[in-house]
Amino acid sequence: MKIKFLIRMEKDKYVKEILKLKKEKNAVILAHNYQLPEIQDIADFVGDSLGLSIEASKTKADIIIFCGVDFMAETAKILNPNKKVLIPEKAICPMAMMLHPEEILSAKEKFKEKNPVVVLYVNTHASCKALSDYACTSANAVKVINSINNDTIIFGPDANLADYVKKHTNKNIIAIPKFGNCPTHHKISVSDVREAKAKYPNAKFIAHPECRKDVLEMADFIGSTEQMIKFVRTSEDKEFIIGTEIGIIHRLRKENPGKKFYPVADTAICPNMKMTTLESVYNALKFERYEINLDKEVMDKARKSIERMIAII
Ligand code: 13P
Ligand code: SF4
Repeated sequence: MKIKFLIRMEKDKYVKEILKLKKEKNAVILAHNYQLPEIQDIADFVGDSLGLSIEASKTKADIIIFCGVDFMAETAKILNPNKKVLIPEKAICPMAMMLHPEEILSAKEKFKEKNPVVVLYVNTHASCKALSDYACTSANAVKVINSINNDTIIFGPDANLADYVKKHTNKNIIAIPKFGNCPTHHKISVSDVREAKAKYPNAKFIAHPECRKDVLEMADFIGSTEQMIKFVRTSEDKEFIIGTEIGIIHRLRKENPGKKFYPVADTAICPNMKMTTLESVYNALKFERYEINLDKEVMDKARKSIERMIAII
């Protein structure tokens, strides 16, 4: 077995080398709002799943370095089948692992009399997206579903997002699997929110729709990570309790120096989002690893559902 020795350098040296390699190889670095601060700081674009998909669809770069988790890098590859898409660490999304193609096929069969439309959260693997009619993100799930001319919607894998969507549409939403969730958001509890509100009585509580229904009922604002950033930017309030993964607080503090941010729970950390380091980004660029490779037919089918989503917004 060939062992590749990781090259260790000081932080500044990594940054310098990353910028140099990026230019040499005409690469672009896309990073999700939950990435470590130093990764957000070297990225060309930082955003939510929707913003990153749109950015990936527009890029002129030859190589996309995707600092996030597997389904996000897959989405970038689906939208750029002829480009090299690299994920610096093999970071997975546990929620995306909760849905399998067989479950989609059996739900379609079970409800076939109702001619259901399949809408899948972007947090799914390409093999599932290939079986869907539309993709959606937390930023546009309600809009996508309301635009569909059919009453029965098969939706997965996030049951909390499904509950949120049910509240904002008149459609019959069938959640698959029944209890799919994001472990990081699902463990945020009502008592976490109560404690934070007692400690910071002047703060607004903003939450991600992957949180449980009872937690969302306590929120002053609900939205995707980018929508939360926009809400804070335009709000006159000065203090915010953050009901999502704590990585977003780096951007919030950087862009709003006069405002204060408190995580609703110190445990709101997605370990997969924290795997990517400057060292792994450097190695991704230097050794062009780890490349995302997907079956062409799967990509062609999955692309249709992503493009249908992009066309709605
Ligand atoms: P956003 O699309 O809101 O950035 O969310 C992605 C995600 O994985 C949330 O856990
Ligand atoms: Fe997946 Fe949750 Fe991590 Fe987002 S925060 S990548 S949904 S596990």
